[in-house]
Amino acid sequence: MVLENKLNITNSAELAEAEERLSKLKAKDLFETGKLYEVEVGTFAGLSAIHKALFSDLYDFAGKIRDVNIAKDGFAFAPRIFLEQSLTYIDKLPHASFDEIVEKYADMNIAHPFREGNGRAMRLWLDSMLRSVLGQVVDWNAIDKDEYFNAMVRSHVSTGELKYLLLKHLTDDFSQQTFFKGLDTSYYYEGYTLYKTEDL
Ligand SMILES: Nc1ncnc2c1ncn2[C@@H]1O[C@H](COP(=O)(O)OP(=O)(O)O)[C@@H](O)[C@H]1O
Ligand SMILES: [Mg+2]
Repeated sequence: MVLENKLNITNSAELAEAEERLSKLKAKDLFETGKLYEVEVGTFAGLSAIHKALFSDLYDFAGKIRDVNIAKDGFAFAPRIFLEQSLTYIDKLPHASFDEIVEKYADMNIAHPFREGNGRAMRLWLDSMLRSVLGQVVDWNAIDKDEYFNAMVRSHVSTGELKYLLLKHLTDDFSQQTFFKGLDTSYYYEGYTLYKTEDL
């Protein structure tokens, strides 16, 4: 099924191509203008601002809470009826240390507030917390896709693996080159590999 979109595209490969190109351009703009690090840190409002910026050319649901239940690989994310409550709870969780930030990230992943684009928006949101609190970000380019996904799946039960993996790959390199490569890796995790951000 192809998601309803503002471009009226009805072919899934074509939509994936447009989504990658348009949202990477938006991410690039968020980085270059510094707006990425002006969003509210550690709250759903901040995450929603990132999601909206990335996907508003494509989807009416950009920045908005999903209106359906969703599951992946047999795991059901927060039921729609509890989503507002979950997000209010997550907003109040502390994010003053590395461990607290990763726990908050794992909880937000369980909430999975959007219809699509949770992974990509949330990794930018995670970096905004890490950057503002620790002065570091994740070097996504150095993290293997399978290791990352295994740690995310495992994080429902324990965040140990995820903390171990992310901690090993923190960097204080805020260069454009590292950001672009990390963005391309974040998209690669989700199957989007047509465009290199630096070429857009
Ligand atoms: N079974 C799972 N358990 C926990 N997290 C998962 C699972 N499957 C996917 N994820 C997380 O959800 C993200 C994908 O969510 P999605 O809304 O499709 O984002 P995107 O559109 O950016 O790909 C992955 O990056 C991963 O972090
Ligand atoms: Mg997806």
